[in-house]
Amino acid sequence: MSLTVAPPVLRSFHSGRSSGRPPRPRVLMTVRSSNTVSAAPILIKLQRDCATPLPVLRHVADAMAADMRAGLEADGRSDLKMILSYVDALPTGNEKGLFYALDLGGTNFRVLRVQLGGKDEHVVATEFEQVSIPQELMSGTSEELFDFIASGLATFAQKEAGKFCLPQGRTRELGFTFSFPVKQTSIDSGILIKWTKGFAVSGTAGKDVVACLNEAMKRQGLNMRVSALVNDTVGTLAGARYWDNDVMVAVILGTGTNACYVERVDAIPKLHGPNSKSGRMIVNTEWGAFSHGLPLTEFDREMDAGSINPGEQIFEKTISGMYLGEIVRRVLLKMAEDARLFGDCVPEKLRMPFSLRTPDICAMQQDSSKDFEVVGSILHDVTGVSPDLITRKIVVDVCDTIAKRGGRLAGAGIVGILQKMEDDSKGLVFGKRTVVAMDGGLYEHYPQYRSYLQDAVTELLGPETSKNIVIEHSKDGSGIGAALLAATNSMYQH
Ligand code: BGC
Repeated sequence: MSLTVAPPVLRSFHSGRSSGRPPRPRVLMTVRSSNTVSAAPILIKLQRDCATPLPVLRHVADAMAADMRAGLEADGRSDLKMILSYVDALPTGNEKGLFYALDLGGTNFRVLRVQLGGKDEHVVATEFEQVSIPQELMSGTSEELFDFIASGLATFAQKEAGKFCLPQGRTRELGFTFSFPVKQTSIDSGILIKWTKGFAVSGTAGKDVVACLNEAMKRQGLNMRVSALVNDTVGTLAGARYWDNDVMVAVILGTGTNACYVERVDAIPKLHGPNSKSGRMIVNTEWGAFSHGLPLTEFDREMDAGSINPGEQIFEKTISGMYLGEIVRRVLLKMAEDARLFGDCVPEKLRMPFSLRTPDICAMQQDSSKDFEVVGSILHDVTGVSPDLITRKIVVDVCDTIAKRGGRLAGAGIVGILQKMEDDSKGLVFGKRTVVAMDGGLYEHYPQYRSYLQDAVTELLGPETSKNIVIEHSKDGSGIGAALLAATNSMYQH
């Protein structure tokens, strides 16, 4: 059976449930689940289907590297789009002046300004604001969405004062982080290929998103120019590189997922046109679309079939924050239907797509109380019953199985990228300190996921090589990164 899923309400990933719910009863009625015995085979099968032993990880890492090569050959050759970012100069630390950044990629957009002070003063001051995007705009028209964003940006720009100073006569410059697949045509233009992560805005696909923003800024009377259009992974890489020269890869593990890395231009056959001065370019892999060799289950296939983009973003649907809770919900629903996990009736709410969120499964896995109290209370929220201890343990095992598969596959993906880079430049990746800058709420807030990811990297690379690979959390680096890239590509530099 496949359910047709309306675009889920995206929420940023954080632990704990929203406070808007009715208070939970203090004394919960315990349902005797003698049927946990029959749920066991479903769990065992799930664990078998989701298993990621070393050969599976290796296969995924190799396939990722092979898909990267194919995607670099020519467009359309691979699941991986390997999008050229046209970022060929990374921040050096010499950047100076006032720059803005706009970050659009989830339920919120963020605006930021930064005053850069060059080598001695680095980041003199930053200020940011976050605005949540009304649900209806996520499925409205392109104009409505961009007008809303430009108006937020205009209000923010009006508050510029204090340490932020724009030399007279200059136009404000903006780094635009747009976290969706875009076919870039230059550093400051790019055509939206498709929306992901539940966005379904009409009239943007096939258009230059910078032009959409510029027109909206004009309608708002805002004098600002987009100097750099960047994916959030690219912003994260640039932001992290500002402080650490060893950063070569950036990964986002949040609502959605993606990775980018620094590539040699002579390894990009599809790159035509002016050569990069540095001989390098950041490539946005769009690895969310990867699909080879993944250990998928009936639950993944059903979720995909019911999604707004069936057959697409399979890696993203297996490892990212938007989907992990939903996969667990589908497993629990099967256990409720086939093995009466929650008693004689199947809880109605459990049938509702996305009623169990990834922050819920994360919170359940953090529960160290003797009676799994947090698990009990989250399950009560979602099912209306309070299951007994054995059932709670089974639910935690389901969460662990899905988080483990996600974390380990993400680790294998990272190794695939590093492996490809190492194969092209022997010793320059594995033979020295190489940093993977990581951002996203899933990675930040889910400790088990994080450690499964690290385990997979260590298993694949071995204890010696893995010492050189540092996975570093680079929180909210993409905003500053985009502003830095606006500085690097400023029209006043040329
Ligand atoms: C998008 C990427 C983005 C990632 C993380 C994916 O759904 O396709 O462009 O980088 O989410 O935000």
